[in-house]
Amino acid sequence: MTKPEPNLNTPKPKEASGSLSYSDRVKVSPDYQNWSVDYPDYNPVDYTDEFVSVHGVEQGWADPADVTEVDFSTRFSHTGEIQFDESGRPLNPAGRTGLRGRGKLGKWGANHAADPIVFSKNTRGELQILLIKRKDTGDWALPGGMVDPGEKFSQTALRELREEAGVNLENLEVQEVFSGVVDDPRNTDNAWMETVAVYVEIPNPVEPRAGDDADEAEWKIITPDLLSGLYASHGPILQAALDKRQRAKELE
Ligand code: BGC
Repeated sequence: MTKPEPNLNTPKPKEASGSLSYSDRVKVSPDYQNWSVDYPDYNPVDYTDEFVSVHGVEQGWADPADVTEVDFSTRFSHTGEIQFDESGRPLNPAGRTGLRGRGKLGKWGANHAADPIVFSKNTRGELQILLIKRKDTGDWALPGGMVDPGEKFSQTALRELREEAGVNLENLEVQEVFSGVVDDPRNTDNAWMETVAVYVEIPNPVEPRAGDDADEAEWKIITPDLLSGLYASHGPILQAALDKRQRAKELE
């Protein structure tokens, strides 16, 4: 029996949004990432997870599907003024990601998080950091999370520290070390993660207890391997905190 020839004129059936995922992301060469570079053939898949478009909208933590219903005058990005495409969707300030829509993120545009960096020394005098193992990716990460309405970034960071790692430092003063876009695997062209990271050093490493989105919580000695293996941009953010701590020590 001869194999039937594929009919090249038959259009590929359009996939229902429920069957799309982050694996539909197309690769964008670094030369074409910047929105100012012309890329007429760029036409990535439009993916918003059903968890966001159905449950998120029902539960009130996600924006409506129609981006024109969002009042962007009440929103902000740490990177400054945001650009929009011709349909009114905000454009990721870090450039093209190979995926349109919101993916698993609730908000069109910036989705704000805050991260606590807690240092302490072990009994041998080695500097340690308090980390959690994320349930979603299995990566070691800063114990941060999403900003609740009306919260200050430092409040979010310390609340998340308590919820994710069981350590309550809510009366302590913290130093800001980073604010900006994070290279997060959930980012798309129209929705992205931004974070504010704050650091604090405590004299004794309090015993942590994993909670919420964390499988484990532990004090880790800071090594180059640890820094390079952390979730998203947490390695460079931790490095920025180490540099700031070092400069502060030199001034003491
Ligand atoms: C995490 C933060 C992280 C942010 C951006 C949030 O889900 O809880 O720790 O900085 O995403 O990647």
